Amino acid sequence: MCGIVGYIGSRSAAEIIINGLKRLEYRGYDSSGVALVGEDLFYNKSKGKIKFLEEKLDFSNIKHYHVGIGHTRWATHGAPSDINAHPHFDCKKEIAVVHNGIIENYAAIKALLIEKGHHFTSETDTEVIVHLIEMYYQKESSLLEAVRHSLPLLDGTYGILVVSNREPDKIIAARKGSPLILGIGSGELFLASDASAVVEHTRRVVYLDDGEIVEITSDGFKTYDLGKNPVQKDESHISWDIKSIEKQGFPHFMLKEIFEQPETIKNAFRGRALIEEGEVRLDGLSLNPEDFAGIQRILFLACGTSWHAGLVAEYLIEEFARIPVEVEYASEFRYRKPVLRKGDLVFVISQSGETADTLAALREAKSCGIRVLGITNVVGSTIARETDGGVYIHAGPEIGVASTKAFTSQLVVIVLITILLARRSEMSRDEAKGYLQELEKLPQLVQAVLDKSDEIRKIAGQYCNRTNFLYLGRGVHFPVALEGALKLKEISYIHAEGYPAAEMKHGPIALIDDQMPVVFIAVRDEVYRKVIGNMEEVRARKGNIIAIANEGDREVHRYASHVIYIPEVSKLVAPLLTIIPLQLLAYHIAVLRGCSVDEPRNLAKSVTVE
Ligand code: G6P
Repeated sequence: MCGIVGYIGSRSAAEIIINGLKRLEYRGYDSSGVALVGEDLFYNKSKGKIKFLEEKLDFSNIKHYHVGIGHTRWATHGAPSDINAHPHFDCKKEIAVVHNGIIENYAAIKALLIEKGHHFTSETDTEVIVHLIEMYYQKESSLLEAVRHSLPLLDGTYGILVVSNREPDKIIAARKGSPLILGIGSGELFLASDASAVVEHTRRVVYLDDGEIVEITSDGFKTYDLGKNPVQKDESHISWDIKSIEKQGFPHFMLKEIFEQPETIKNAFRGRALIEEGEVRLDGLSLNPEDFAGIQRILFLACGTSWHAGLVAEYLIEEFARIPVEVEYASEFRYRKPVLRKGDLVFVISQSGETADTLAALREAKSCGIRVLGITNVVGSTIARETDGGVYIHAGPEIGVASTKAFTSQLVVIVLITILLARRSEMSRDEAKGYLQELEKLPQLVQAVLDKSDEIRKIAGQYCNRTNFLYLGRGVHFPVALEGALKLKEISYIHAEGYPAAEMKHGPIALIDDQMPVVFIAVRDEVYRKVIGNMEEVRARKGNIIAIANEGDREVHRYASHVIYIPEVSKLVAPLLTIIPLQLLAYHIAVLRGCSVDEPRNLAKSVTVE
């Protein structure tokens, strides 16, 4: 949800900023802009993708600027337009600000500043920040002090970068609720919303924390709290490299990420299982035997695809570990005064580790004295740092806005947590060993499903012009149906609904006619026969059935127009396989419809606003 980049060093700032913004484009892509400072302040902005801004810039004419900031926007206040694009400026255009977040009290501040004679040009909340800084800059001796005085007046969230041509050798950065990292190069420093914008230059980073303000010059950086006290920051090392964030021959990041799953599943599993002993080791959870014994209930809080992973956890943990589980949208949890008790354990699930609602839910649970653990992908993200412990899914950077590999990696971790908990109650060592062996060989089975991509593209070709889809599954495949439907609507803009198969007759059945494709997950488990019954009901109403069934199945083809056969595995790991054809189906349909697969309209990868 908006990406910001800053650079200070000896190279051309514009080029580095534009390249960095392109790496962050998945965070928002409705408009972008840059501001560069030297003897004067140069800026340019453009509605639309970053390539439009790039086309407007004459790089040879601006290569003498070595300090600058840039922004790619996902609109919250004010429509996408050149004027509302960041950076925003003070009245004299001496100060420029880029901002990720939302200033909730902007209207009151704006009214006050207008009264004091400030002139506003945009409809954004961000513009109040720069006019506030302008007001204090008249009284304070430095940009740092002017920013420091302004921040306490802002309610809401921000990651900001500020430059001024009155002090052209520095950038001031500050954060509260929106991510910001500092990359340390040799003789140069980078600022960005996340590591993907800096990793091609350096893997040495510092994660800024809420309530911190940093003064950055080409000589180094100094971090303070808002009370002016210096803060000592530790350096971290990014473990992945630039190759992880390039397409490597795939037409889209999404397809690359779908095809990475044999590897990412392996990475989520690696080093976490003692297969012979039937044991799981997740030391990051920091739970001792008494902690385990005290768990009365587990809550999973998340948004979007991560919420679907939480629903899978509910089915698995309740069945195999017999511990009550509740799953809730983080956005609902944070505002509804939930009842939390001793014995509750909360897991937040978040690929990015920055989703604002999930972060707020985490804080809400912690404020009630509940232990909160995280299942996150981005190392060093805010959620990873604020939880009491957790598990990284190690999926590597996920760039495609529609989450794929992060989902399956989350599921691997959830299966491991299920086994860990179940071993303390009903699951025998041999059963656990069997499941762990299945997990170990899963990457090959996932590859076998990926090899059906061409077959799935042909099916996609027959249905890509339909306007509605229904996805049906039962038990642990109900959340998979939800996720399959979400993938399709996110990237192809086809209306799709996921439903528990048996619930279909309480409503969606009214929609079924010969124009309605119905995707069934009909693998062999204890509800298989029931699902077959639901397929008959759809067929009787002339719906077109696309089914996911197990290899060797002799029945499903009698009801379905198309069957995608996948290997048969136990229920504990089955969602890891059944989701793969649904990801591919959504992808191929979106491509055939000419949609922007990696950057679907109106969506952002990381939603850092409420
Ligand atoms: C956005 C993304 C989804 C993602 C959701 C939760 O809506 O477009 O793909 O599932 O946020 O994100 P998180 O990073 O918390 O898993």
